[in-house]
Amino acid sequence: MTDKTSNQMWGGRFAAGPDAIMEAINASIGFDQRMAAQDIAGSRAHAAMLAATGVITDSDADAIREGLLTVLSEIESGNFQFSTALEDIHMNVEARLKEIIGEPAGRLHTGRSRNDQVATDFKLWVRDQFDAAEKGLLALIGALVDQAEAGADWVMPGFTHLQTAQPVTWGHHMMAYVEMFGRDLSRVRDARKRMNESPLGSAALAGTSFPINREMTAEALGFDRPTANSLDAVSDRDFALEFLSTASICAMHLSRFAEELVIWSSAQFRFVTLSDRFSTGSSIMPQKKNPDAAELIRAKVGRIFGANTALMMVMKGLPLAYSKDMQEDKEQVFDAADNWMLALAAMEGMVKDMTGNRDSLAAAAGSGFSTATDLADWMVRVLKVPFRDAHHVTGALVAMAEGRGVDLPDLTLEDMKSVHEGITEDIFSVLGVENSVNSRMSYGGTAPAQVRAQVARWKEILG
Ligand code: ARG
Repeated sequence: MTDKTSNQMWGGRFAAGPDAIMEAINASIGFDQRMAAQDIAGSRAHAAMLAATGVITDSDADAIREGLLTVLSEIESGNFQFSTALEDIHMNVEARLKEIIGEPAGRLHTGRSRNDQVATDFKLWVRDQFDAAEKGLLALIGALVDQAEAGADWVMPGFTHLQTAQPVTWGHHMMAYVEMFGRDLSRVRDARKRMNESPLGSAALAGTSFPINREMTAEALGFDRPTANSLDAVSDRDFALEFLSTASICAMHLSRFAEELVIWSSAQFRFVTLSDRFSTGSSIMPQKKNPDAAELIRAKVGRIFGANTALMMVMKGLPLAYSKDMQEDKEQVFDAADNWMLALAAMEGMVKDMTGNRDSLAAAAGSGFSTATDLADWMVRVLKVPFRDAHHVTGALVAMAEGRGVDLPDLTLEDMKSVHEGITEDIFSVLGVENSVNSRMSYGGTAPAQVRAQVARWKEILG
């Protein structure tokens, strides 16, 4: 005899209902209710297909499709009573449909299982997030290109090892991030394309004996085609992992830029002023203006990469096909998606609002012997000295300047000649930072003309 407390969806072979702890560990409704719209879209497509193929009647399909819209509006308006006993979004929706339309509701699950259903819902949800990420990235790239254009010829120090290396331009530095986020954008588009196959109709794992039409449901849900192997379709979470790994790489880029903004906005650097709208104050130190948004963006990579690692670990030991372990995929992806979108939007806002401090940037650009390489290159070019010797001579001149507490352009021609006879007055033409950056005209180099060419290329891409 079936116990009254056993599950109404599969209680037939059960004599008792679940222990409270079992219910607690088993239920996903607390989080998978976020996929309600996707679940209902999938079910409506499935019902229409079942009618078109003659598996259920048109009138049953109509009742199901109408009833599902009622369920959706109840959920969207907050008038839906989610039940933990009904485990997940799939069974909550179906149970409510039964209350609303009665017997035809029981025909919806023909030729389908929760295994292909959840894979379909989750893919639809992740696909929307890829689209949101694409939009967020395009907006951020646009903001960076605007910054680059405004400061294409502003000089600033370029760093290696966070030590002054050679002067670069503000525009060049901004465009470096445009390249990074551009690769993220291409990863997003690429992954979205790859994942866009419909699992619906794979049923539990083996397909179904009903004469279903998988092309029809695939098309109705905006998929390019149905998946080609039912075992794979119900147990594949590559699309979620590609989402998380793409998000992780992008979050790493966001974090690097955030770190630079934290450094640049400090009183020691003053390269950039962040707007009040993206800063906070201190409750005890009145002078403070903290770059909290940048710091939080810097931290987001931790939880996003954590989600990627967690799901990798969940998946790596699972035999085919579906295992309940896979229910642990959603919270990781939901959290990572929320935080990725938030970080993209916050970075876009910060970049749009920030002011590059042209004078501080220029003052810093000339310090730290940043044109030493230009001096060495001049000796190679004009005096035909081997680069290694020129490097040595320049090192001696840097040591001399350092000893006197001055920069390279402050040395006299006599000072220069005391280290190398052949040096002429012409050397001073290459010691200025403007000349230095203007001379870096190799493709992709820091010269303002190169930066402007890349700005133009990106503006064309962004349309
Ligand atoms: N809530 C489940 C999940 O998220 C749905 C699929 C359950 N399938 C099953 N055979 N128990 O994975």
